[in-house]
Amino acid sequence: MYENPKLLLDPSASIEAGQFTWRSPSNLAIIKYWGKYGTQLPRNPSLSLTLAASCTDTMLEYELTENTSGQIDLDFFFHQEENDAFRTKTLAFLESLLPIFPFLKQLKLTVHTGNSFPHSAGIASSASGMSALALCLCSLEDALFGTLPEPNDFDRKASYIARLGSGSACRSIFGHAAVWGETAAVSGSSNEYATPIGDLIHDQFKDFHDDILIVSSHEKSVSSSAGHALMDGNPYAEPRYAQARTRLNTLLDAMKAGDLETFGKIAEDEALTLHALMMCSNPSYMLMQPGSISIIEKVRQYRAETGNPVYFSLDAGPNIHLLYPGDIVHEVRAFIDEQLLEHCENGYVQQDWVGEGPEEV
Ligand code: DP6
Repeated sequence: MYENPKLLLDPSASIEAGQFTWRSPSNLAIIKYWGKYGTQLPRNPSLSLTLAASCTDTMLEYELTENTSGQIDLDFFFHQEENDAFRTKTLAFLESLLPIFPFLKQLKLTVHTGNSFPHSAGIASSASGMSALALCLCSLEDALFGTLPEPNDFDRKASYIARLGSGSACRSIFGHAAVWGETAAVSGSSNEYATPIGDLIHDQFKDFHDDILIVSSHEKSVSSSAGHALMDGNPYAEPRYAQARTRLNTLLDAMKAGDLETFGKIAEDEALTLHALMMCSNPSYMLMQPGSISIIEKVRQYRAETGNPVYFSLDAGPNIHLLYPGDIVHEVRAFIDEQLLEHCENGYVQQDWVGEGPEEV
C-alpha cells in the first residue's frame, strides 16, 4: 500500500547529512496477537496498553553516498558497540522495505540503538525497537521528500512499517492504548496498521501500572515467529480467533465504562489462553516457570483477601506483568516487596505504567 518508486533522490542535488532520534515504548497486549498469515497480518484483532518506561532509543544518521552497488550501506551500534547480529537482521528488514523507501540505497546509514531496560532482563524489545526504527524511517522520508506532513498520515505509515518488522510493534506508535486488526468495534481499524483508542477508554486506564516481575531473564525457548507458526496446525486455532474477537468487544465496553473487574478477568484469561495454546501446540512449549505460577497464585489470593483490583498478564515468556490502577500503587508495591520479590531473578522488577507514546528526542 505504500510502495513508491518515485521516492528517489536526485544524485546531483546537495543533501546535507542529518539524523533523527526517536524514543519508543514497549506495549502489553491485553487481547493477544497469536497467529498470523501473509505478510505479517494478524489472525485476530489485538488490543494493548502502551507502556512508558520500557523504551528503545534509536538514532538514525544518514548521508548521501556515491554507493552504486544497489545495496544498503549500514553500520549498526547497540549500546555504543558494533553489533553484527542486529546489523544483519536490520539490513534484511531495510532491504525488504526498498519498494517503500527506495532512497535507502542512496544513503549511508548508521543506527545507534539501546534500551532503557537491562538487555539481560528478558523483556521483549522487538515492539519498542521496531517502532523506534519505523519512526526514524518516516522522519527521514519526510525530511527528504516532504511527504508526511500530517501527523495522522505519519503515524499510520510508521505503524504499518513497524508491523512489517514485528507485528506487535505497530501498536507502540500510539499513546495509552491501541487496537491492531480489523474489528467492527473500532472504526478505521485495519490489519495493516494499528489505530489509537485512547479517546475510547476511561481515564482510569491511562493511569494504569504494569510492573514487570522478572522471573527469568533467560532466552525464551520459542521465538515469537515460531510460536505464531505453531498456530497453523493447532486444533483450537479457529475457536481461539473467534474467542479473541468476542473478548475484544467485551474488553472495549469494559474499558469505556471503567469496569476494572471485567478488564482484569479478560487480561488474565488471555494470558492463560496464550500459554495454553503453546502447551497444546506441536511441538509443545511450556514457558511458565514455578515462580510464574507461585506469583499467579499469590495475586489471586491477595485479590480475594484485599479486594484490590490487581491482575496478572504474561507475554510469550515466564515473566509476570502486574496490572493495577495508580491509586493503589503504594499498597501494591508493598505486596510485591513482601511476597513476590522472592520469585524474581535477583529480585528484579521493571516498574512501568501506561504512557503517552513515542517521542522524538
Ligand atoms: C505474545 O509481535 O513479537 O507478545 O510479528 O513475529 O514479530 P512477530 O511477533 P510478535 O508477537 C507478539 C506476541 C505476544 C502477544 C502480543 O503482543 O499481542
